[in-house]
Amino acid sequence: MNKHRILQAGRLLPSLEAKLAAEFDTVLLAEQGDPAAFLAAHGAGFEGFVTSAGVGVTADMLAQLPRLRAISSFGVGLDKLDLAAAQARGIAVGYTPDVLNDCVADLAMALMLDVGRRISEADRFVRRGGWTTPGAKSFPLARKVSGAKLGIVGLGRIGQTIAKRASGFEMDIRYHSRRPVAGVAWAHEPSLIELARWCDYLVVITAGGAATRHLVNDAVLEALGPRGFVINVARGSVIDEAALVRALADKRIAGAGLDVFENEPNVPRALFELDNVVLLPHIASGTEETRQAMADRVFDNLQGFFRDGRMVSPAPLP
Ligand code: NAP
Ligand code: 8YV
Repeated sequence: MNKHRILQAGRLLPSLEAKLAAEFDTVLLAEQGDPAAFLAAHGAGFEGFVTSAGVGVTADMLAQLPRLRAISSFGVGLDKLDLAAAQARGIAVGYTPDVLNDCVADLAMALMLDVGRRISEADRFVRRGGWTTPGAKSFPLARKVSGAKLGIVGLGRIGQTIAKRASGFEMDIRYHSRRPVAGVAWAHEPSLIELARWCDYLVVITAGGAATRHLVNDAVLEALGPRGFVINVARGSVIDEAALVRALADKRIAGAGLDVFENEPNVPRALFELDNVVLLPHIASGTEETRQAMADRVFDNLQGFFRDGRMVSPAPLP
């Protein structure tokens, strides 16, 4: 039997590439000298497409793949996938929810502890000899995380996992989302401004995309105030980055822990100068265990579709 032809957008974990190549007839788009010319000449040959949350797929690209039946994306974020265009063509879309909840939540906690307790700043202090310099000022006091007030923006799969972690730190937890979540112990705050005013740590973990663009703006940062920290493990687009840089530089908020940025991999240079900011290169799901689980789901989605017409994790319809 002929294998289904699958176009792979970019490099994946070697184990996933090997599994895909064993089950399907795979071609790596990123390896073609001129990907646009390749698509124009050969796009009609592919039934499946493997992409990632970071790369996504546009309507233009889908138009170049006229026989496409299934997309399998490495990641849970859907903001770069044109789901409406896929739906209009009846193309099935799969993604990797849940398997990364633990690691993204762990990293949100790590960022909260890092900026609150000044861990990265203290590490820099030791490395530059600040501790051993005679007569130097001692390292400044930090802020407590245990028992502090935590505001979670977006109490979905990952947001709830963060709340469970934070409960172990005896934090006082409230959250904001468009709809209250049924059956949880934490209080829903309909106003994001009020949540920011109330909390010590504001953790952003909503979906990305147009609906949440610049949800955290000047007014929210103003409400968070000079004693408040913001953590972003969602998408850079959810925070107005220019407003955030200004608020940090002017010390109108206490600090920030950022895994995601508006124009990745570019991080505003102004942030490099600030000691009260922790900057990470979008690594929240980046552990061996979780990336392997995501890879397995990417494969299972595609295999499920082509074997019996069902993905394990179909993306929600727009
Ligand atoms: P999820 O279960 O769909 O939760 C999304 C949450 O966002 C829901 O609580 C939703 O509640 C809320 N939300 C959506 N639009 C909103 C709005 N306009 N205002 C307020 N809240 C809004 O998704 P998840 O699995 O937890 O993942 C969340 C996001 O994390 C992903 O979409 C992805 O972008 C990001 N992520 C980042 C990394 C990383 O490496 N840093 C890794 C994984 C995921 P309502 O619909 O009730 O508003
Ligand atoms: C990954 C993510 O880094 O799942 C997501 O939405 O942002 C991260 O888990 C990403 O999928 C890799 O492109």
